[in-house]
Amino acid sequence: MRSVDDLIAEGVSGRRVLLRTDLNVPLDKDAPSNSGAVITDDGRIRASLPTLQALRDAGARVVVAAHLGRPKGEPDPRFSLAPVAARLGELLGTRVPVAGDVAGDDARAKVAALGDGEVLLLENVRFEAAETAKDDAARGELADRLAALADVYVDDAFGAVHRKHASVFDVAERLPRYAGRLVARELEVLTRLTTDPERPYVVVLGGSKVSDKLAVIEALLPKVDRLLVGGGMCFTFLAAQDHGVGSSLLEADQIDTCRRLLEEAGDRIVLPVDIVCADRFAADADVSVTPADAIPDDLMGLDIGPLTVDLFTAELVDARTVFWNGPMGVFELAPFAAGTKGVAEAVSAVEGLSVVGGGDSAAAVRQLGLDEAAYGHISTGGGASLEYLEGRELPGLAVLAG
Ligand code: 3PG
Repeated sequence: MRSVDDLIAEGVSGRRVLLRTDLNVPLDKDAPSNSGAVITDDGRIRASLPTLQALRDAGARVVVAAHLGRPKGEPDPRFSLAPVAARLGELLGTRVPVAGDVAGDDARAKVAALGDGEVLLLENVRFEAAETAKDDAARGELADRLAALADVYVDDAFGAVHRKHASVFDVAERLPRYAGRLVARELEVLTRLTTDPERPYVVVLGGSKVSDKLAVIEALLPKVDRLLVGGGMCFTFLAAQDHGVGSSLLEADQIDTCRRLLEEAGDRIVLPVDIVCADRFAADADVSVTPADAIPDDLMGLDIGPLTVDLFTAELVDARTVFWNGPMGVFELAPFAAGTKGVAEAVSAVEGLSVVGGGDSAAAVRQLGLDEAAYGHISTGGGASLEYLEGRELPGLAVLAG
């Protein structure tokens, strides 16, 4: 796999580089247009800067392609990349214009006007239905138009490498292709998690649905020394131990699978011992802490309890490698944030390699005001890092390596 640094060494001044980045950031506003919206977590934009700045410094004409949210394959002002361009411009200290389309007349005109070291952001690639189409020919037609905007392609959108999309996969087949610095760094770290990790190796999984995490649990269980389970998904495991879980989140169709996992590797799976419960899903609900095996029928579990934070902290204290994905509770609501914060602090104190696996857990680290620098690596890819750890082939990486 050639890297952007190989491209820079070849000489990129004056050349047009199509740079796919993952700028899919959360906004505080959803309708009817996102003009003036505030970006609530700009982590992915900041993570895209090293490659972008290196290309600018080398004199490239940088055409950035990115997606935002999941628009329905047509222009939709609620998903415009304009707020992202504004933030990107602030961070780069330069103006970043946005094309009025993805790869149409306006994009072509603006690319033609780019000077050396300048940056243009194409409008949300998902404004074209072909971007996410299953049909190869449809994606190919868009990929042809994107490829015509540039001389070379750099993929730095780690968070999207698991998608077989036109701007991630097909366009890479049409131009000389290189991996960006973020993609290279993410791969280096994930390889350390899958290839001979330093032990003890502890994985912490949370998030709402056990069904989303089953594949990664199956792939990682044989490799880990301990798997700590919190978040909404712990209730299906507790139910598999025949405990009542009240009105907590439960995936009844996954109970048998959880029971099998506990039978196979129960000595390595660590479940909560106490739960923060409430009578309803609200910040002003009545809150109480109950033992994990005695959740009252009329209450729902919304966070792991303080004894569990202590237990998980003790399990993490001697770890040399840690991967954490998924919040321990509904951390967005203050009464249910302590579990996620406690685990985040325990993970940050680990002396070996600590990796936060993207998505909600990365957002939690930032929103809870924790020090990002205390972690070995905060991945920008939620789904992408999980699929990598599952051992699946990721189309965006396969095409770069080919
Ligand atoms: C993400 O948010 O994980 C990436 O940006 C990919 O987005 P998607 O799940 O909508 O494809």
